[in-house]
Amino acid sequence: MTISELKQFSKQQLSEIYTNSESGELFSIFCSSILGMDKFELRNSQEKSVPEEQAKAFEKLICELKTGKPYQQILGETEFYSLKFFVDENVLIPRPETEELLELTISEIQKRNLKDTKILDIGTGSGIIPIVLKNKFPQAKVSAIDYSQKALETAKKNADFHKLDINFIHQNYLEENLSEVYDIIISNPPYIGMDEESEIADSVKEFEPKMALFSPTSNPLIFYEKIADDCKNHLAENGMVFLEINQKLGNETKALFTDVLSEVYLVKDISGNDRFVFGKK
Ligand SMILES: C[S@@+](CC[C@H](N)C(=O)[O-])C[C@H]1O[C@@H](n2cnc3c(N)ncnc32)[C@H](O)[C@@H]1O
Repeated sequence: MTISELKQFSKQQLSEIYTNSESGELFSIFCSSILGMDKFELRNSQEKSVPEEQAKAFEKLICELKTGKPYQQILGETEFYSLKFFVDENVLIPRPETEELLELTISEIQKRNLKDTKILDIGTGSGIIPIVLKNKFPQAKVSAIDYSQKALETAKKNADFHKLDINFIHQNYLEENLSEVYDIIISNPPYIGMDEESEIADSVKEFEPKMALFSPTSNPLIFYEKIADDCKNHLAENGMVFLEINQKLGNETKALFTDVLSEVYLVKDISGNDRFVFGKK
């Protein structure tokens, strides 16, 4: 089978769940993983024949994709902020909005020239937030909390892969108290309300951890309320908070912080949705 035939086959197989351009994109991601070919090589090798073993591996991946399983979980890895991360069924697959949250955070840290700052990430999942920050600011002391022991194992694997020293803490943030004071608190907590469950794609609900997606109570702001409360005793003077939020609750989320911070901003993502709240004590 040639590369071009394999491409035709995968587009055909995936046409029920993916658009033409999505399946084209998935094809090149898989070619890079299985055949070790980048997009340029791929374009110039359409008539090259694919060894039988690799063609079989390809077909197996296509079968898994047809179940709706995210390709990042099938490959066991993804790219985020230009770094490689291992992902599995125990962690949220990193979203592009969280890259924007990190861009905002990094630019504010750089503006203030904070280097040996103390950072806490709440609900770390695969560890993308502390790893990107520690990679960017090696002198920072970075801690990260998650209630899922399995997510923490994946986060530690990612930190080890990047040879970064991060203090991972197993904790139910909603039930337990913080013990230290931080210069920066950052979080992308579960913020989907139970009443919004029907709006979430089946493949997300089926393959990604519910604990990472949904608020554990009928109150979708429960994590933000606790973070606002923690700003009183666990955020240093002039400390900063960076949060990814539910786009439907921008003003309500911002309002929780107006009494505890001296400056609070609601920021839109590149799609124009209210997506981040950040502020300074
Ligand atoms: C939306 S995911 C964010 C993961 C990662 N920070 C990211 O941006 O991709 C939320 C994370 O919060 C964790 N979590 C949920 N409830 C928690 C709790 N009560 N205490 C600590 N972490 C919790 C979940 O396990 C999940 O990893």
